[in-house]
Amino acid sequence: MAGTADQQLGAADVNSAAIDKRQVAASFSRAAGTYDQVAELQRKVGNNLLSRLPEAEQLSQLADIGCGTGYFTRALAERFGLPVLGLDIAEGMLRYARDRSPAALGWVAADAESLPLRSASQDLLFSSLALQWCPQLPLALSEGYRVLRPGGCMAFNTLVEGTLGELRAAWQAVDGFVHVNRFMPLAQLQAMLAAAGFARWHCEVEAHVLHYGQVSELTHELKALGAHNLNAGRPSGLTGRARLRALTTAYESQRQTAGLPATYQVAQVLLFKGIDQA
Ligand SMILES: C[S@@+](CC[C@H](N)C(=O)[O-])C[C@H]1O[C@@H](n2cnc3c(N)ncnc32)[C@H](O)[C@@H]1O
Repeated sequence: MAGTADQQLGAADVNSAAIDKRQVAASFSRAAGTYDQVAELQRKVGNNLLSRLPEAEQLSQLADIGCGTGYFTRALAERFGLPVLGLDIAEGMLRYARDRSPAALGWVAADAESLPLRSASQDLLFSSLALQWCPQLPLALSEGYRVLRPGGCMAFNTLVEGTLGELRAAWQAVDGFVHVNRFMPLAQLQAMLAAAGFARWHCEVEAHVLHYGQVSELTHELKALGAHNLNAGRPSGLTGRARLRALTTAYESQRQTAGLPATYQVAQVLLFKGIDQA
């Protein structure tokens, strides 16, 4: 059957077919040494999530899922005055985080979709810009629910449809391949949140638009973050010069006074397990 890889995979059901976790882990491990230098947006949206956390008096067990270089793991430890457990699928990220953090913090290789934590053991789960890498977000949500104590909170943010839409559109004008990670529609995320079993939840979307002088600045930044395209259907081999020129031309048509725009649609989510929920 003809059609682009995008069409063949189907738009909404994306992640389940498309993300290879070993590649995700390898890509983020490779990016551990460069991530912090280019993670300005990641800091901003993670700080926005931190500022949304409920004031809690009696916390004892906290975990940061997809902790990366450990920036927010350390921030959580400082804010709550407690050791925090950093979990990540990328061993390279964990090594980098461990080397730069107080010894009291713990670091464990773990998949958000299958947490190595006891049921009802955590008071607060935090996760910034990691769960968009889960092939099956409902699994990560049910794991979050399982490991939270009654009354606990899972706070995460993730990217939704519209993110890197300009880059996607520019590539679409060049060829039909999947060059940009897919992000689920907001309505699909909301349906997953509603089905996850929590007593209550909030979800709010923030749009952030970054600007770049050249397309290559954006693509290099995505690589330094470890967040370049890892979907099935991406073209293999080197990107030819001719195609990069075509990409540049296509992206240029979207140029604004401030530069080439790159939009991030960030859903900030809080999920609360009821005190009577097992
Ligand atoms: C964009 S980084 C964010 C790191 C950190 N939370 C921050 O805000 O700086 C995404 C992180 O999620 C991790 N990750 C991706 N898929 C994961 C999974 N299934 N389970 C746990 N961690 C995962 C990656 O290895 C990477 O370190």
